[in-house]
Amino acid sequence: MNPLQQWFTHQKQKKAVIRNLSWLLSIQQRDIETLWQSFDHFYREHRYETTLGEAKTLNRLESFITYVMLAAQRPASIIEIGTFYGKSTRRIIDMKSTLGLSAPIFCYDICDNVTCFLPEEAKLILADITIDPRKHLAAYPAPRFIFLDARPYHLLKNVIATYLEHFPDTIMTIHDCSSSLCKREMTMDRSCMEISSSTGIWERHVLAECFQKVDPLSPELDDIDTPTHRLMIFDTTHGLALLVPKQKLLGLRNQIEQIASNSG
Ligand SMILES: C[S@@+](CC[C@H](N)C(=O)[O-])C[C@H]1O[C@@H](n2cnc3c(N)ncnc32)[C@H](O)[C@@H]1O
Repeated sequence: MNPLQQWFTHQKQKKAVIRNLSWLLSIQQRDIETLWQSFDHFYREHRYETTLGEAKTLNRLESFITYVMLAAQRPASIIEIGTFYGKSTRRIIDMKSTLGLSAPIFCYDICDNVTCFLPEEAKLILADITIDPRKHLAAYPAPRFIFLDARPYHLLKNVIATYLEHFPDTIMTIHDCSSSLCKREMTMDRSCMEISSSTGIWERHVLAECFQKVDPLSPELDDIDTPTHRLMIFDTTHGLALLVPKQKLLGLRNQIEQIASNSG
């Protein structure tokens, strides 16, 4: 894509993100747009596009969704599963500071490749929580914010299923849920760890299983309303999924309205 095409794609996706956040939270678009103004200032100031890049990590719009949720939820703890160099963590640490949050950040990975943050900014935990995610996640103060960005099928399945059953106070986002990264027919074994965009990735398959949808590529998966949860997959470069317990929606809406009226 040339720079002009990139600009048009960004504008189109930004409009859709704002419209869908406003739909999800039953809030006026102009309130979300007010948060965009402060976010945009924050994002430009940190120059992430040049320092960290926008590929294979939270990009600008995915960071905006994260920023809105952190601002509205004001979690007591933040947990990232899948950290790698810490590029997404860096953005979350800076958001935390800009939003005046005191929540500690806990990062799970199975190896230490961190170069983008210091131990005093976020705690890296070298552990695989596939077998018992409930025990690990319950150890952190509620309300929690979880960012899930790791590929193994059984990890995704256990974390998402456990979250839906046991963490009604927690908000979760999941990276790489775009249809463009998903293959309907997966030929690899579910326990295989060599997962890439060429093999196809499991995120939409796992969400389809958890929300009883047959086809992982169905657009129905992009906006789901159950008696307990809302799932929305935003049309961003990597596809960021947002899972919110319905009992939290009103509180999130009130908080955003408050922020918008204070800045207006
Ligand atoms: C896509 S990268 C994360 C990128 C990072 N969140 C960012 O935006 O910069 C996926 C990471 O998940 C880690 N991973 C793989 N299996 C894991 C597991 N069972 N538990 C935690 N992390 C795991 C990998 O080591 C890798 O560092």
